[in-house]
Amino acid sequence: MGYKDVYDSWKADPEGFWMEQAKAIDWDTPPTKALNDTNAPLYEWFTDARVNTCYNAVDRHVENGRADQAAIIYDSPITGVKDQITFAELKDKVAGLAGALAARGVTKGDRVIIYMPMVPEALVAMLACSRIGAIHSVVFGGFAANELAVRIDDAKPKAIIAASCGIEPGRVVDYKPLLDGAIDAASHKPEFCVIFQREQSPSELVEGRDVDWFAAQEGVAPADCVPVEGDHPAYILYTSGTTGAPKGVVRPTAGHLVALNWTMKAIYNVDPGDVFWAASDVGWVVGHSYICYGPLIHGNTTVVFEGKPVGTPDASTFWRVISEHNVRSFFTAPTAFRAIKRDDPKGEMIKDFDISCLRALYLAGERADPDTIEWAQRVMNVPVYDHWWQTETGWTIAGNPAGIEALPVKIGSPTVAMPGYDVQILDEGGHPMKPGELGAIAVKLPLPPGTLPTLWNAEDRYRKSYLTTFPGYYETGDAGMIDEDGYLYIMARTDDVINVAGHRLSTGGMEEVLAAHPDVAECAVIGVSDELKGQLPMGFLCLNKGCDRPHDEVVKEVVKLVRDKIGPVAAFKLAVVVDRLPKTRSGKILRGIMVKIADGQDYKMPATIDDPAILDEIREALQTLGYAKA
Ligand code: COA
Ligand code: AMP
Repeated sequence: MGYKDVYDSWKADPEGFWMEQAKAIDWDTPPTKALNDTNAPLYEWFTDARVNTCYNAVDRHVENGRADQAAIIYDSPITGVKDQITFAELKDKVAGLAGALAARGVTKGDRVIIYMPMVPEALVAMLACSRIGAIHSVVFGGFAANELAVRIDDAKPKAIIAASCGIEPGRVVDYKPLLDGAIDAASHKPEFCVIFQREQSPSELVEGRDVDWFAAQEGVAPADCVPVEGDHPAYILYTSGTTGAPKGVVRPTAGHLVALNWTMKAIYNVDPGDVFWAASDVGWVVGHSYICYGPLIHGNTTVVFEGKPVGTPDASTFWRVISEHNVRSFFTAPTAFRAIKRDDPKGEMIKDFDISCLRALYLAGERADPDTIEWAQRVMNVPVYDHWWQTETGWTIAGNPAGIEALPVKIGSPTVAMPGYDVQILDEGGHPMKPGELGAIAVKLPLPPGTLPTLWNAEDRYRKSYLTTFPGYYETGDAGMIDEDGYLYIMARTDDVINVAGHRLSTGGMEEVLAAHPDVAECAVIGVSDELKGQLPMGFLCLNKGCDRPHDEVVKEVVKLVRDKIGPVAAFKLAVVVDRLPKTRSGKILRGIMVKIADGQDYKMPATIDDPAILDEIREALQTLGYAKA
């Protein structure tokens, strides 16, 4: 069957399609029905089933002949460590940590926050939670204490599992002071913390609250897998929305298992036993779906890579890892390739490595620019597949289903909708648009298994953010078009979310931080184009009347404030002081026009603009930073 047959078979009988895929999962109680629409437009999948994620990701492979296969390959050029963990070893590690959590009272439904860098123990922690039905929430290490505190107050974890430190090029990032600061700042306090001490910077433990990773496991019985209902949350992952308050995306257990398992062959074209590598971070959705769960559920070996595409030690690191570990399919963000291309424009470093094991490169997380795709294709000599999805969906909305049928690549398009997704382009009134016309990208409800059923503790926000603008549809927040052949093109966000090095960030969240500076009367943050990171945030500050402090001092302070409040990952380094912000007569800041001016693009003067002269002031200010070139 080709792609079209598979897609049509799903469309003809969506429930039958997913019940068929569900056969690949080991259920404690198999589902009798796929879709539960009793609360439409809120949908759930496989609600009457009982199943355990960890059993499917680990134990069943030990029982079915993969005990000695590597489950995890750890390759850390930043510390010089390489290691392998078999499925049998992984089971012992996970059951041991799960036992320690259970012995301290963590049970099904309790939340556990995980704050760890790219070490295998991060996956062990995630799987240990799934083993006992606890709901984990991984927080990315590049976020500051305040962001961690916000997540602690929202998820209300019984426990936090953290590493003592992460390692960035040229510096050790001590996680423990960030963790302590976050717990101090949060209103909710966890009952205990499990700390994984790394030799690069062990930390002091808080007596009565912190317990060492290994000490916690001494004398406790390993925990067995606890079956949970199909709609039990497997995890919560916070992502950026329009405001500074992150959205807690809920991942349902059964749909997650079924959908991810299906994608491993259909999209990534790997068979059980193959090595799969996603160079991302466990703090992001790519890390959840394709460093941890997807490959392990499917019986693949996953690579945990602690390093950067360049500088650890150089731009050949990816080639070395692919050849050394026999990687079949490789997934990363376009920004990583832009970084490699910048350091090694001719791609000469690849010549020292045999990467003939590799079948394809998969890119996602941000728009893949044609230059980068063409460069990667030429240098690596494998197909490059762009694919489009979001934290909310957890797996591909549109991609090239290479394991079913590799469709012709059209550069600039992540290819076609996957089974499960009826993707449509809508105009402002919610009417479907013609091929080639630009509009809002929406998905007809219900979304497929594995996608978010709601937001954690925020059902109203879920409805308002995703289901209200276009009744009967899920609003993706992206704009784009579909061509005559059904190929999708993703052009821009329709909200104030920007994408910096594949990381999704809220300009609204940064504005909240800038506005809190005592000298700032008003501000705006926009995303400007950047050759390496895709976009970079840029702040515009209007100072309070009478404030005569040197502008560069205030700018330095706000840059530090964003780093301290949101974290280094925001990459907020550009800000400028202006007298006024361009607004409509009703007072709405014209951020879209500011972006166009900064990027040197043409724009149409909006009829509703209050004072067009302000745009010249903005242009001049941008030129002082080297932007807004004609
Ligand atoms: N813990 C602490 N700090 C972190 C961190 C972590 N886990 N991850 C990133 N940071 C810090 C970085 O050290 C950097 O700090 P700096 O301002 O002091 O230099 C800052 O956050 C920005 O990091 P990053 O966006 O990674 O930029 P970079 O300049 O260090 O590297 C690239 C640039 C292109 C090499 C890098 O962005 C990259 O490889 N990105 C991969 C994209 C990716 O995996 N995206 C995930 C979605 S698929
Ligand atoms: P995140 O939830 O962090 O994965 O970010 C999801 C958003 O990143 C999407 O809504 C898009 O705006 C953007 N994005 C992800 N993948 C792609 C892609 N292949 N092409 C264009 N934009 C993408």
